[in-house]
Amino acid sequence: MPDINSEQQAAIVSKKGFLDIDIDVNLDLFAEIEKLKKEKNAILLAHYYQEPDIQDVADYIGDSLGLSQKAASTDADLIVFAGVHFMAETAKILNPTKKVVLPDLNAGCSLSDSAPPELFKAFKDKYPDHLVITYINCSAGMKALSDIICTSSNAQKIVESLPADQPIIFAPDKNLGAYINKQTGRNMVLWNGACMVHEIFSLEKITKLKIRHPQAKVIAHPECEEPVLAIADYIGSTTGLLKYTQTSSVKEFIVVTETGILHQMQKASPDKTFIPAPPNNNCACNDCPYMKLNTLEKLYLCLKYETPEITMPEQLRLAAKKPIDRMLEISAKYGL
Ligand code: 13P
Ligand code: SF4
Repeated sequence: MPDINSEQQAAIVSKKGFLDIDIDVNLDLFAEIEKLKKEKNAILLAHYYQEPDIQDVADYIGDSLGLSQKAASTDADLIVFAGVHFMAETAKILNPTKKVVLPDLNAGCSLSDSAPPELFKAFKDKYPDHLVITYINCSAGMKALSDIICTSSNAQKIVESLPADQPIIFAPDKNLGAYINKQTGRNMVLWNGACMVHEIFSLEKITKLKIRHPQAKVIAHPECEEPVLAIADYIGSTTGLLKYTQTSSVKEFIVVTETGILHQMQKASPDKTFIPAPPNNNCACNDCPYMKLNTLEKLYLCLKYETPEITMPEQLRLAAKKPIDRMLEISAKYGL
């Protein structure tokens, strides 16, 4: 591997968003990553949508709530976040004195992009008596405009923790918001955002799969559109979906979320069959193009050189932390 100083590293990262350096093909990346984690007292946090190799070297794999709880409680000096930008940013908001790195800064999120803070601020100003509950899939700027953050596993409990007559704006995911409205009987004002991965599942193809596999249970993430959720046997966060497959006596599942989750499902239940739900295009599977920007090579380089690093102005961090703290408090109260 070429010797590369910090100025050269910064130049590559600012041009490409990640460290693009040749790695010796004979290097055992799994062993090197384990060694570096110990040397640096680093923790590797990974989301279920990461590629299997990354999940296999992670210290903790989880959904957005689990990952933020883990980030809030870790005593590691370095947090390597194998996920997307808003997740690593949340870890940094909770850990100002720790270094947080992300393998590729281009790993964004279409849902987060659907809510630019300037536009949302103008929208929010039209509803001065409303509280703002914002899905964690958003930028620090959006979090700073929010009262409480939520994830797909605690959204319903957080909404229900507020008085029934409290007017609420829910952002940015209109599908999750509509689902929570239906579950709680509320009438939250919804921001018009969505996830590009969960919006393109094909109802027709899922219905045909269900006919071909009559014993299979359809399990879906609440970021999916309402007609898809309407035919689901179970709806939940990635952790919720995984637990459901582990505890159910059923042997076959049509999984309506990003395909990365199938790795843990298959590992936990090798005797069960998991069928990825097809999207509304010519592909057989449905990967998140942002999550899949992270590779084992980028992860190794990011851990070794501790870059690209997540940073933000302190004032923004403090404003974004408040609604995350509220979420963590409410989640702890309900044992979530
Ligand atoms: P959860 O893992 O919290 O269910 O979120 C899914 C997702 O889309 C993350 O980007
Ligand atoms: Fe964002 Fe959707 Fe990808 Fe999750 S799956 S990171 S919500 S684009």
